[in-house]
Amino acid sequence: MMPHSNVVDAAAKGVKLGGGGGALMVRRVASGKLLSASSHLLFRATILATLGLVCLFTVHYPSLLSHSFRLSSGAAAVANGSSQRVASRSSHRSLLGSSSSAKYGGASWEREVRRSAAPRRDGGLSVLVTGAAGFVGAHCSLALRARGDGVVGLDNFNSYYDPSLKRARQRLLASRGVVVLDADINDAALLERLFDAARFTHVLHLAAQAGVRYAMRAPQTYVASNVAGLVSVLEVAAKHADPQPAIVWASSSSVYGLNTDAPFSEEHRTDRPASLYAATKKAGEAIAHSYNHIYGLSITGLRFFTVYGPWGRPDMAYFFFSFSIFSGEPITLFRTADGADARRDFTYIDDVVKGCLGALDTAGKSTGTKSGKKRGPAPLRVYNLGNTSPVPVTRMVAILEKLLGKKANKRVVTMPSNGDVPFTHANVSHATHDFGYRPTTSLDAGLRHFVDWFVHYYKLDPAKIAMGKPTKRKSMDMSATS
Ligand SMILES: NC(=O)c1ccc[n+]([C@@H]2O[C@H](COP(=O)([O-])OP(=O)(O)OC[C@H]3O[C@@H](n4cnc5c(N)ncnc54)[C@H](O)[C@@H]3O)[C@@H](O)[C@H]2O)c1
Ligand SMILES: *[C@@H]1O[C@H](CO)[C@@H](O)[C@H](O)[C@H]1NC(C)=O
Ligand SMILES: *[C@@H]1O[C@H](CO)[C@@H](O)[C@H](O)[C@H]1NC(C)=O
Repeated sequence: MMPHSNVVDAAAKGVKLGGGGGALMVRRVASGKLLSASSHLLFRATILATLGLVCLFTVHYPSLLSHSFRLSSGAAAVANGSSQRVASRSSHRSLLGSSSSAKYGGASWEREVRRSAAPRRDGGLSVLVTGAAGFVGAHCSLALRARGDGVVGLDNFNSYYDPSLKRARQRLLASRGVVVLDADINDAALLERLFDAARFTHVLHLAAQAGVRYAMRAPQTYVASNVAGLVSVLEVAAKHADPQPAIVWASSSSVYGLNTDAPFSEEHRTDRPASLYAATKKAGEAIAHSYNHIYGLSITGLRFFTVYGPWGRPDMAYFFFSFSIFSGEPITLFRTADGADARRDFTYIDDVVKGCLGALDTAGKSTGTKSGKKRGPAPLRVYNLGNTSPVPVTRMVAILEKLLGKKANKRVVTMPSNGDVPFTHANVSHATHDFGYRPTTSLDAGLRHFVDWFVHYYKLDPAKIAMGKPTKRKSMDMSATS
């Protein structure tokens, strides 16, 4: 059973119990002969007020309800220690975002959007970056802005992982002149207003519900953001924008699913997803095909391979392992059924950013018009963006131990079949050929950059590592790939 429905059930039960108890008391009281009309009224008012309070509580503190459920469910216990506690803080309600078009509009809003969207160099791009307060989105926005492109960001700041990290990225972007709007990609009215206000040449669509295992607990959020949300973005780009922008969006290495032919090539089959997350990304690739075919949208899908680095995602293994090592909590490592260590093609964020910018620069124009006519075929592309050298997760942990100056308390278990795959390995020859993509950062160097940022961001005192707890704890969930 999914926590979401349990939360709803629990809430419904709470209300029903209150109501039932009330009804019983009403009957008992009504049997009293001396019941005056006024005390009867007062009593009813009390019951109504109680019911009102129960409802209010349910509406305002859904996370408390889901918290107690999830701690007892054990479904999250895959990740021992830090990670499971954290995910329980987020409520599914907030993952679906809120409708925010009401907040946006008017002349000063349009001015702000246009200023952020305006390129500062000749021939510069004007890019809408969805998921801009996310890990990859923030880095790409900064890189685009640094070379003089115009950028408008959009993010719903959901609490899948600690939103304060997303807010910190938003502040960083604001300091460079990039605005990140607080909005959901499913808000079509807002998107239309946005495309009216600025003429985007490109959309870098990175907003998504990420994480492989979390899909078992909150499947609908994957459908809402990765399927419905993608359609919402493609709809406005195809039918509302004039001229149509080119789209570059994040698919995932997870579409290779149960494949074992390494390295993974774009031509390999992708019809055996091992998780709902992977299935929604695969669905996205099919949806992209249809919008390219019908509306002439130029669309490029990028299959990222386990991206890591500073300002990264606290739900990913390298990140929450760092917390656990720091605070002396045990970490769980996976071994395949035949005893091999899980391996990942860890890809450093700066390399991925270069790939994203290369894809934007070579995207080619969309050929459709606002009236729905297509003037000819438009590019439809898909590329792997990986590091091309898979590393055992145990090696990643050894590097973190060295950098943090402390041994991990390791538990090794057989990988459960809950979405993770035993290994990933990218063949990037297409991206190299088409836009010069060449990953250059080793895992040692990349993790050094990450740990430097991690220690600084969380204000950890390295001297205290041997005994200490982190001074601040941020959200984590478990996911090695995605
Ligand atoms: N990091 C990786 O290793 C990796 C690997 C493969 C694919 N990807 C894909 O790359 C993209 C970026 O990933 P990331 O690691 O930066 O993840 P992230 O979670 O840090 O960033 C995604 C951002 O999108 C926002 N978002 C989610 N749903 C939204 C919605 N409905 N409306 C508006 N905003 C919404 C989130 O708040 C978040 O800030 C995602 O599409 C992800 O699936 C990432
Ligand atoms: C979690 O770790 C504790 C030690 O901190 C251990 O006693 C317990 O068995 C572990 N539980 C799971 C589910 O791995
Ligand atoms: C990588 O992919 C290219 C293009 O599909 C192919 O020619 C090449 O042989 C592949 N490399 C490996 C090592 O499989």
